[in-house]
Amino acid sequence: MRSYIIAGNWKMNKTVAESVALAEEIVAKTKGISKTEVVIAPTYLAAAKVADVVKGSNVKLAVQDIHWQDQGAYTGKVSIDMAKEIGVEYVIIGHSEQRQYFHETDETVNLKAKKVLSAGLKPIICIGETLDERNGGKLESVLTAQVKGAYKDISAEDALKTVIAYEPVWAIGTGVVATDDQAQEAQKYVRSLVAQLYGESVAEALRIQYGGSMNPTNASGLLAQKDIDGGLIGGAALKSDSFFSIISAAEEK
Ligand code: PGA
Repeated sequence: MRSYIIAGNWKMNKTVAESVALAEEIVAKTKGISKTEVVIAPTYLAAAKVADVVKGSNVKLAVQDIHWQDQGAYTGKVSIDMAKEIGVEYVIIGHSEQRQYFHETDETVNLKAKKVLSAGLKPIICIGETLDERNGGKLESVLTAQVKGAYKDISAEDALKTVIAYEPVWAIGTGVVATDDQAQEAQKYVRSLVAQLYGESVAEALRIQYGGSMNPTNASGLLAQKDIDGGLIGGAALKSDSFFSIISAAEEK
Protein backbone atom coordinates (compact mmCIF):
# COMPACT_ATOMS: atom_id res chain seq x y z
CA MET A 1 0.00 0.00 0.00
CA ARG A 2 1.28 3.45 -0.90
CA SER A 3 1.12 6.00 1.91
CA TYR A 4 -0.05 9.53 1.20
CA ILE A 5 2.47 12.35 0.98
CA ILE A 6 1.22 15.90 1.42
CA ALA A 7 3.83 18.54 0.67
CA GLY A 8 3.61 22.31 1.02
CA ASN A 9 5.56 24.29 -1.55
CA TRP A 10 5.89 27.74 -0.06
CA LYS A 11 7.50 29.19 -3.20
CA MET A 12 8.80 32.77 -2.74
CA ASN A 13 6.56 33.44 0.25
CA LYS A 14 7.17 34.06 3.95
CA THR A 15 10.07 35.81 5.66
CA VAL A 16 12.24 33.74 7.97
CA ALA A 17 10.18 34.77 11.01
CA GLU A 18 6.91 34.03 9.20
CA SER A 19 8.28 30.66 8.05
CA VAL A 20 9.23 29.68 11.59
CA ALA A 21 5.78 30.68 12.85
CA LEU A 22 3.99 28.70 10.14
CA ALA A 23 6.22 25.66 10.69
CA GLU A 24 5.49 25.81 14.44
CA GLU A 25 1.75 25.82 13.77
CA ILE A 26 2.02 22.87 11.38
CA VAL A 27 4.15 20.89 13.82
CA ALA A 28 1.59 21.48 16.57
CA LYS A 29 -1.39 20.55 14.39
CA THR A 30 0.17 17.36 12.99
CA LYS A 31 1.13 15.81 16.34
CA GLY A 32 -1.51 13.08 15.93
CA ILE A 33 -0.84 12.33 12.27
CA SER A 34 0.46 8.80 11.84
CA LYS A 35 -0.20 7.52 8.31
CA THR A 36 0.39 10.56 6.13
CA GLU A 37 3.84 11.89 5.33
CA VAL A 38 3.90 15.67 5.79
CA VAL A 39 6.56 17.78 4.06
CA ILE A 40 7.15 21.53 3.91
CA ALA A 41 9.41 23.41 1.51
CA PRO A 42 10.31 26.90 2.73
CA THR A 43 12.76 29.21 0.96
CA TYR A 44 16.47 28.49 1.26
CA LEU A 45 16.88 31.43 3.64
CA ALA A 46 14.32 30.05 6.06
CA ALA A 47 15.21 26.37 5.69
CA ALA A 48 17.84 26.12 8.45
CA LYS A 49 15.60 27.74 11.07
CA VAL A 50 12.61 25.69 9.97
CA ALA A 51 14.82 22.59 10.27
CA ASP A 52 15.17 23.30 14.00
CA VAL A 53 11.41 23.68 14.34
CA VAL A 54 10.53 20.39 12.64
CA LYS A 55 13.25 18.28 14.28
CA GLY A 56 11.68 15.30 16.06
CA SER A 57 8.20 16.12 14.73
CA ASN A 58 5.93 14.53 12.12
CA VAL A 59 6.95 17.18 9.59
CA LYS A 60 9.77 16.66 7.11
CA LEU A 61 11.84 19.34 5.45
CA ALA A 62 12.23 19.97 1.72
CA VAL A 63 13.84 22.65 -0.40
CA GLN A 64 12.42 23.92 -3.66
CA ASP A 65 15.40 23.28 -5.92
CA ILE A 66 19.08 22.31 -5.88
CA HIS A 67 22.03 22.64 -8.22
CA TRP A 68 23.59 19.49 -9.65
CA GLN A 69 27.17 20.62 -9.11
CA ASP A 70 28.83 19.96 -5.76
CA GLN A 71 30.24 23.44 -5.23
CA GLY A 72 31.93 26.32 -6.97
CA ALA A 73 31.23 29.38 -9.07
CA TYR A 74 27.46 29.07 -9.47
CA THR A 75 26.18 32.38 -8.14
CA GLY A 76 22.78 32.13 -6.55
CA LYS A 77 22.72 28.34 -6.25
CA VAL A 78 22.68 25.89 -3.34
CA SER A 79 24.28 22.43 -3.31
CA ILE A 80 22.89 19.14 -2.11
CA ASP A 81 25.45 18.89 0.73
CA MET A 82 24.30 22.25 2.06
CA ALA A 83 20.72 20.98 2.09
CA LYS A 84 21.67 17.65 3.59
CA GLU A 85 23.64 19.26 6.41
CA ILE A 86 20.57 21.01 7.80
CA GLY A 87 18.37 17.92 7.60
CA VAL A 88 16.56 18.29 4.30
CA GLU A 89 14.97 15.02 3.21
CA TYR A 90 13.10 15.94 0.00
CA VAL A 91 14.01 18.22 -2.89
CA ILE A 92 11.40 19.57 -5.31
CA ILE A 93 12.78 19.38 -8.84
CA GLY A 94 11.49 20.55 -12.20
CA HIS A 95 8.63 22.67 -10.93
CA SER A 96 6.80 24.27 -13.85
CA GLU A 97 7.81 27.72 -12.60
CA GLN A 98 11.45 26.61 -12.84
CA ARG A 99 10.79 25.24 -16.31
CA GLN A 100 8.89 28.36 -17.40
CA TYR A 101 11.02 31.14 -15.92
CA PHE A 102 14.45 29.66 -15.18
CA HIS A 103 15.35 27.45 -18.13
CA GLU A 104 14.79 24.12 -16.40
CA THR A 105 14.80 21.31 -18.96
CA ASP A 106 14.26 17.56 -18.76
CA GLU A 107 18.04 17.26 -18.90
CA THR A 108 18.65 19.50 -15.87
CA VAL A 109 15.81 17.76 -14.03
CA ASN A 110 17.63 14.48 -14.62
CA LEU A 111 20.98 15.90 -13.45
CA LYS A 112 19.37 17.25 -10.29
CA ALA A 113 17.45 14.04 -9.58
CA LYS A 114 20.63 11.99 -9.84
CA LYS A 115 22.48 14.39 -7.55
CA VAL A 116 19.72 14.27 -4.93
CA LEU A 117 19.63 10.47 -5.01
CA SER A 118 23.42 10.17 -4.84
CA ALA A 119 23.29 12.11 -1.55
CA GLY A 120 20.65 9.76 -0.15
CA LEU A 121 17.86 12.36 -0.35
CA LYS A 122 14.56 12.05 -2.22
CA PRO A 123 13.50 14.08 -5.24
CA ILE A 124 9.92 15.17 -5.84
CA ILE A 125 9.95 15.35 -9.63
CA CYS A 126 7.37 17.73 -11.09
CA ILE A 127 5.83 17.17 -14.50
CA GLY A 128 2.75 18.48 -16.25
CA GLU A 129 1.34 19.90 -19.46
CA THR A 130 0.35 23.44 -20.40
CA LEU A 131 -3.19 24.22 -21.54
CA ASP A 132 -2.03 24.54 -25.17
CA GLU A 133 -0.38 21.14 -24.99
CA ARG A 134 -3.49 19.55 -23.50
CA ASN A 135 -5.80 21.22 -26.02
CA GLY A 136 -3.44 20.26 -28.83
CA GLY A 137 -3.70 16.57 -27.96
CA LYS A 138 -0.16 16.44 -26.63
CA LEU A 139 -0.83 15.42 -23.02
CA GLU A 140 0.62 11.93 -23.37
CA SER A 141 3.63 12.91 -25.46
CA VAL A 142 4.56 15.72 -23.05
CA LEU A 143 4.28 13.47 -19.98
CA THR A 144 6.22 10.72 -21.75
CA ALA A 145 9.11 13.03 -22.60
CA GLN A 146 9.18 14.50 -19.09
CA VAL A 147 9.14 11.13 -17.31
CA LYS A 148 11.64 9.45 -19.62
CA GLY A 149 13.91 12.50 -19.48
CA ALA A 150 13.78 12.78 -15.70
CA TYR A 151 14.55 9.09 -15.07
CA LYS A 152 17.33 8.65 -17.64
CA ASP A 153 20.07 6.43 -16.16
CA ILE A 154 18.31 6.15 -12.79
CA SER A 155 18.11 2.60 -11.42
CA ALA A 156 14.87 0.94 -10.30
CA GLU A 157 16.16 0.94 -6.74
CA ASP A 158 16.69 4.71 -6.85
CA ALA A 159 13.43 5.31 -8.73
CA LEU A 160 11.60 3.82 -5.75
CA LYS A 161 12.94 6.65 -3.57
CA THR A 162 11.43 9.31 -5.82
CA VAL A 163 8.01 10.91 -5.81
CA ILE A 164 6.37 12.29 -8.95
CA ALA A 165 4.16 15.37 -8.74
CA TYR A 166 1.76 15.61 -11.68
CA GLU A 167 0.93 19.29 -11.90
CA PRO A 168 -1.02 20.50 -14.91
CA VAL A 169 0.46 23.95 -15.51
CA TRP A 170 -2.98 25.45 -16.19
CA ALA A 171 -4.11 24.47 -12.69
CA ILE A 172 -1.17 25.94 -10.78
CA GLY A 173 -2.04 29.04 -8.83
CA THR A 174 -5.09 29.64 -11.02
CA GLY A 175 -7.86 28.30 -8.83
CA VAL A 176 -8.80 26.08 -11.78
CA VAL A 177 -8.36 22.55 -10.49
CA ALA A 178 -8.24 19.46 -12.69
CA THR A 179 -11.37 17.39 -12.23
CA ASP A 180 -10.98 14.15 -10.31
CA ASP A 181 -11.27 12.27 -13.61
CA GLN A 182 -8.79 14.45 -15.48
CA ALA A 183 -6.23 14.09 -12.72
CA GLN A 184 -6.80 10.35 -12.34
CA GLU A 185 -6.53 9.75 -16.08
CA ALA A 186 -3.23 11.63 -16.35
CA GLN A 187 -1.80 10.03 -13.23
CA LYS A 188 -2.75 6.55 -14.41
CA TYR A 189 -0.89 7.31 -17.60
CA VAL A 190 2.16 8.50 -15.63
CA ARG A 191 2.11 5.26 -13.64
CA SER A 192 2.01 3.29 -16.89
CA LEU A 193 5.14 5.16 -18.00
CA VAL A 194 6.89 4.17 -14.78
CA ALA A 195 5.82 0.57 -15.46
CA GLN A 196 7.32 0.76 -18.94
CA LEU A 197 10.62 1.95 -17.48
CA TYR A 198 10.84 -0.18 -14.35
CA GLY A 199 8.10 -2.80 -14.36
CA GLU A 200 4.80 -3.17 -12.54
CA SER A 201 6.08 -3.58 -8.99
CA VAL A 202 8.02 -0.31 -9.02
CA ALA A 203 5.08 1.44 -10.68
CA GLU A 204 2.73 0.15 -7.99
CA ALA A 205 5.02 1.35 -5.19
CA LEU A 206 6.02 4.77 -6.54
CA ARG A 207 3.95 7.63 -5.19
CA ILE A 208 2.40 10.18 -7.54
CA GLN A 209 1.09 13.44 -6.09
CA TYR A 210 -1.37 15.77 -7.73
CA GLY A 211 -0.61 19.50 -7.69
CA GLY A 212 -2.52 22.53 -8.96
CA SER A 213 -5.03 24.47 -6.88
CA MET A 214 -5.58 21.62 -4.43
CA ASN A 215 -7.47 22.99 -1.44
CA PRO A 216 -9.55 21.80 1.53
CA THR A 217 -12.68 21.63 -0.64
CA ASN A 218 -11.37 19.54 -3.52
CA ALA A 219 -8.66 17.51 -1.73
CA SER A 220 -10.84 14.62 -0.58
CA GLY A 221 -12.19 13.91 -4.07
CA LEU A 222 -8.77 14.07 -5.65
CA LEU A 223 -7.13 11.93 -2.97
CA ALA A 224 -9.84 9.28 -3.40
CA GLN A 225 -8.58 8.58 -6.92
CA LYS A 226 -6.70 5.34 -7.35
CA ASP A 227 -3.51 6.83 -8.73
CA ILE A 228 -3.35 9.97 -6.58
CA ASP A 229 -1.07 9.43 -3.60
CA GLY A 230 -0.95 12.90 -2.17
CA GLY A 231 -0.64 16.54 -3.06
CA LEU A 232 1.95 19.20 -3.79
CA ILE A 233 0.26 22.31 -2.52
CA GLY A 234 1.12 25.96 -3.10
CA GLY A 235 -1.43 28.58 -2.07
CA ALA A 236 -3.35 26.42 0.39
CA ALA A 237 -0.10 25.44 2.14
CA LEU A 238 0.58 29.00 3.26
CA LYS A 239 -1.95 28.84 6.10
CA SER A 240 -1.74 26.07 8.67
CA ASP A 241 -5.54 25.62 8.79
CA SER A 242 -6.01 24.93 5.11
CA PHE A 243 -2.82 22.85 4.88
CA PHE A 244 -3.91 20.78 7.85
CA SER A 245 -7.38 20.25 6.34
CA ILE A 246 -5.73 18.67 3.31
CA ILE A 247 -3.48 16.54 5.54
CA SER A 248 -6.58 15.41 7.44
CA ALA A 249 -8.34 14.49 4.20
CA ALA A 250 -5.43 12.17 3.40
CA GLU A 251 -5.20 10.81 6.93
CA GLU A 252 -8.92 9.90 6.90
CA LYS A 253 -8.64 7.79 3.73
P1 PGA B 1 -1.02 25.87 -6.13
O1 PGA B 1 0.51 25.48 -6.46
O2 PGA B 1 -1.49 24.89 -5.12
O3 PGA B 1 -0.94 27.28 -5.60
O4 PGA B 1 -1.76 25.77 -7.42
C1 PGA B 1 0.87 24.14 -6.59
C2 PGA B 1 2.32 24.04 -6.97
O5 PGA B 1 2.79 24.88 -7.75
O6 PGA B 1 3.04 23.14 -6.52
